[in-house]
Amino acid sequence: MSDFRTLDDFEVGGKTVLVRGDLNVPMKDGTVTDTTRLDRLAPTLLELADKGAKVVVLSHFGRPKGKADPGFSLKPVVPALEKALGGRPVAFAEDCVGPAAEAAVGRLSDGGILLLENVRFHPGEEKNDEEFARGLAALGDIYINDAFSAAHRAHASTEAIARLLPSAAGRLMQAELEALSRALEKPARPVVAVVGGAKISTKLDLLGNLVGKVDMLVLGGGMANTFLHAKGVNVGASLAEKDMADAAREIMGKADAAGCELLLPVDGIVAAEFKAGAESHDVPIDQVPDDRMILDIGPKSVEMLSLKIQGAKTVLWNGPLGAFEIEPFDAGTNAVAGLVAALTKEGRLLSVAGGGDTVAALGKAGVEDAFSYVSTAGGAFLEWLEGKELPGVAALRR
Ligand code: 3PG
Ligand code: MG
Repeated sequence: MSDFRTLDDFEVGGKTVLVRGDLNVPMKDGTVTDTTRLDRLAPTLLELADKGAKVVVLSHFGRPKGKADPGFSLKPVVPALEKALGGRPVAFAEDCVGPAAEAAVGRLSDGGILLLENVRFHPGEEKNDEEFARGLAALGDIYINDAFSAAHRAHASTEAIARLLPSAAGRLMQAELEALSRALEKPARPVVAVVGGAKISTKLDLLGNLVGKVDMLVLGGGMANTFLHAKGVNVGASLAEKDMADAAREIMGKADAAGCELLLPVDGIVAAEFKAGAESHDVPIDQVPDDRMILDIGPKSVEMLSLKIQGAKTVLWNGPLGAFEIEPFDAGTNAVAGLVAALTKEGRLLSVAGGGDTVAALGKAGVEDAFSYVSTAGGAFLEWLEGKELPGVAALRR
């Protein structure tokens, strides 16, 4: 972390501190349905408020395309944010720049918290426009970025603004960067990466980068079928990107050259339809019937992976191993996640997980809290695994 300033580097009492959070939370009928991102942002806001700062929160919400659109207002998030803050009141301003924002900031007292309206209501946000960033920066004395999950975007509130004010990582950003660096930059070895999900087409760069860094790559989910197909295994009616066979072979070659062991399922749970409770059975991976699809890894694969994971010091997880949304095809994911959780609890393993479906899958397995670290990020987590420098992180470097 020495690359970054943190909250420890500033005297914030009496100062106006702009905090970029990620309040892009799932919402249904005007109510926040998952408060994880708010809960994880809260410590930074509370620490600043308790130190006597005037805390001004910036965020995007959805993709309103540069226009003010009431359907993308951050106002309905206020009650959930107040709850995440243990009941502290949060003021709201109808705009994030200009007179409405300035007046609301002017009304803040030391220790007060204010949320500004969606930064994406202005076209300058996604254009990373200097002028717009200046409008934001004019509201405060210090900029804190606590939105790791939006750090893959080079936008005015994540990138340009960091160059205009003294800036630092918030506590959540700090935790995300520390966890990822412990898992991938300076990990205790052996390191096992577990990568699942439907498609390899969206994860080619990620797989290509990981095989050069980890000791073992475990593949599951639909993307494992593409690799099996590339190796000449008949995957029957399974989801597989057959046009990606060359790309899969290239990754296998890279893994070989780097000394990374690539593990594919040795058996699969097959069914004729993608449906909860569909009739299913376990078959050796080279005996998948033409009219069946693989919807989960089988028990022999779970056993094989369990042995490998028991020898690991670090596990990095992205993507489910099967169709975890429907039973019984969540069994493989649940079993492997359960083992990683148990080894983590025993102190034998550092486990880091992230990326959209992953968090949902671990939540469903009931083990989210048992991992060493679960990232709040989807796309940003994936880009980090691809080995890319995230613009929002780069802008914070000393
Ligand atoms: C996310 O939810 O992944 C982040 O908030 C980024 O949102 P975006 O994909 O709309 O940039
Ligand atoms: Mg996204």
